[in-house]
Amino acid sequence: MPIQKKITIAIDGFSSCGKSTLAKAMAHDLGYIFIDSGAMYRAITLFCYKNKYVDEQFIDEEKIIKSLKNISIHFEYNSNTSKLEVTLNNENIEKEIRNLTISNLVSKVASIKEVRQKLVNEQQKIGENGGIVMDGRDIGSVVFPNAELKFFVTADPKVRANRRFLELNDPNVSLKDVAKNLKERDFLDSTRAESPLIQTEDAIVIDNSELTQDEQLLIALKYHKECIDYLTQFPKKK
Ligand code: CDP
Repeated sequence: MPIQKKITIAIDGFSSCGKSTLAKAMAHDLGYIFIDSGAMYRAITLFCYKNKYVDEQFIDEEKIIKSLKNISIHFEYNSNTSKLEVTLNNENIEKEIRNLTISNLVSKVASIKEVRQKLVNEQQKIGENGGIVMDGRDIGSVVFPNAELKFFVTADPKVRANRRFLELNDPNVSLKDVAKNLKERDFLDSTRAESPLIQTEDAIVIDNSELTQDEQLLIALKYHKECIDYLTQFPKKK
């Protein structure tokens, strides 16, 4: 049997719509690498927050841009969770970056052109050999515009808020706080000047408001199979 071609899969969509869950499950099933590009933006935001370059009221873009050369972001494998976890200057910060403080600041930091240039560059390097599922906001439009398979995932805002609220499981954070954060990030991410969140014409839309994780995965894998069958029949010219 011929070795199956490994392609690039881009998954974009609004905040907390299950992109990472789908990306992780697809990568696991296909034996691909999974990269959560949002974790990289969150890592830079954590660095900026700790150094007081950003808070709810203020952002010092100049200092952020200058400090980018001192920020190194990598992923390390956690054998307990079988997951890649993000490190910032060699420190594992996977947990810290998920809290509401960072969620409330990340879209501001992610709108800075130089921050995006640095991360897009690194994401393209990680994915240069294919066999990768990456999720984010600009993966199908900017990071991998030639990805063989692109999904745009969406869900009802109430469903999304509820899912993230349960996932956070933080007694100090209310459902209202989470819903407000998602609404603000959706707005900032889709209206920013630098590579805003868009649905590319070639992306397959999956609305998972009423789908279980397994149902969503099955749909995505069916499209993956169709894509591989097509590429086997009509290989792309190099
Ligand atoms: O998991 P969730 O949907 O809440 O967000 P995330 O994927 O962790 O991304 C956090 C934030 O990073 C987003 O709200 C965007 O502001 C930014 N981001 C981005 O600008 N481009 C990406 N490719 C990924 C994330």
